[in-house]
Amino acid sequence: MNMKGIILSGGKATRLRPCTKITSKQLLPVYNKPMIYYPLKTLVEAGIKEILIIVAPECAGDYLNLLGSGKEFGVKLTYEIQDEPKGLAEAFIIGENFIDEDNVAMILGDNIFEDNLAEDIKSFKKGAKVFAKKVSDPERFGVVKFNDKMKAIKIVEKPKKYLSDYALTGLYIFDNRVVEAAKNVKPSSRGELEITDLHNWYLKKKELDVAMVNGVWIDAGTFDSLLEAGNMVKRKKLYEKFESDIE
Ligand code: TTP
Repeated sequence: MNMKGIILSGGKATRLRPCTKITSKQLLPVYNKPMIYYPLKTLVEAGIKEILIIVAPECAGDYLNLLGSGKEFGVKLTYEIQDEPKGLAEAFIIGENFIDEDNVAMILGDNIFEDNLAEDIKSFKKGAKVFAKKVSDPERFGVVKFNDKMKAIKIVEKPKKYLSDYALTGLYIFDNRVVEAAKNVKPSSRGELEITDLHNWYLKKKELDVAMVNGVWIDAGTFDSLLEAGNMVKRKKLYEKFESDIE
């Protein structure tokens, strides 16, 4: 089964105002590359050849100017607009025609992984696979609770009450059923189509696999994490290896 890729790169980025008043968060620099290069690298490294970039209407032209056809990265890029940030799960509705009959790996445009996750992505067959990381501020994310055998038993979006220290990172792999499942998701109390509803759909069927992220993972959506991401990329020479691979 072929694997397609989606980079979800819309949103309002209110936490990075005023920088994001005139541009998209995922186009801001992280050290010496625009932020979106890093999640793009994660998908390209995994051998994914067709990638859909979902953007907000205001900045669509900038993404085209920056990334173009994708030839430079050895992939074919397609673009779609998300008119309003109605939630992560909407990506699979917007991307229905693009996904077609394939599986899909979606990554958030502001998520930066130190790890090369190619093997995790390539080995996917069926169901859903997500990636967890122990963090000090789990309440900012979707959180996964494990039983004593480290099997996932519960996933809650931004839990108000402590659930566990494991956040779900912004890389999600689903089989083709995700498109129909996404169409049945109802908006949450904050008005969004929550990706955790999709995780729980697969969890209920015992088809959700949770892998651990070993290296650094940064959601670069705040000023502090954006700065941290830039320093991490510089320190670990993160993009350099990738560039030498695609040249
Ligand atoms: P968030 O960081 O939760 O939202 P945001 O980017 O709008 O930022 P803020 O909270 O500061 O206002 O979104 C996570 C990622 O998902 C980010 O890359 C933007 C993207 N996103 C969309 O593309 N569409 C959406 O509907 C949502 C909710 C997020």
